[in-house]
Amino acid sequence: MTKTVYVLNGPNLNLLGTREPQVYGSQTLADVEQLCATACARHGFTLVFRQSNHEGALVDWIHEAGRLHAAGQLAGVVLNAAAYTHTSVALLDAVKGTGVPLVELHISNVHARESFRHHSYLAAAARAVMCGFGVQGYALAIDGLAQW
Ligand code: DQA
Repeated sequence: MTKTVYVLNGPNLNLLGTREPQVYGSQTLADVEQLCATACARHGFTLVFRQSNHEGALVDWIHEAGRLHAAGQLAGVVLNAAAYTHTSVALLDAVKGTGVPLVELHISNVHARESFRHHSYLAAAARAVMCGFGVQGYALAIDGLAQW
């Protein structure tokens, strides 16, 4: 049976390509989706790729992924929660409550940036944390979870 990968993107990532290109690069979110589709095809995964600026939508999608996980149909969740990484107990609780295997992902190296980006609420519930590889990190994360 084909397993599914959820790639979930949080606030302001819809602006990729024009948003602080010196930090996030010039590729758009559509380019990232294509990278993820290629990586998923390599491993025979179905891709669900979404973005929202709203915390509750991300919570709902983690619950949705959790139902697939319970049914044995989820390969994993790659979550770039963007700024919610540093603020959201609700997202942490969603990951813990569903038990989804999580890769926390950041395009930039958050540890080389402002100190408020050094703390992640999600890291405690993540199986892996990846940052600093640019948008290529998404493909690397999918390659990584294919080994689980
Ligand atoms: C980010 C890093 C976060 O600190 C920031 O708020 C983002 C993007 C990244 O991908 O590097 O919006 O998650």
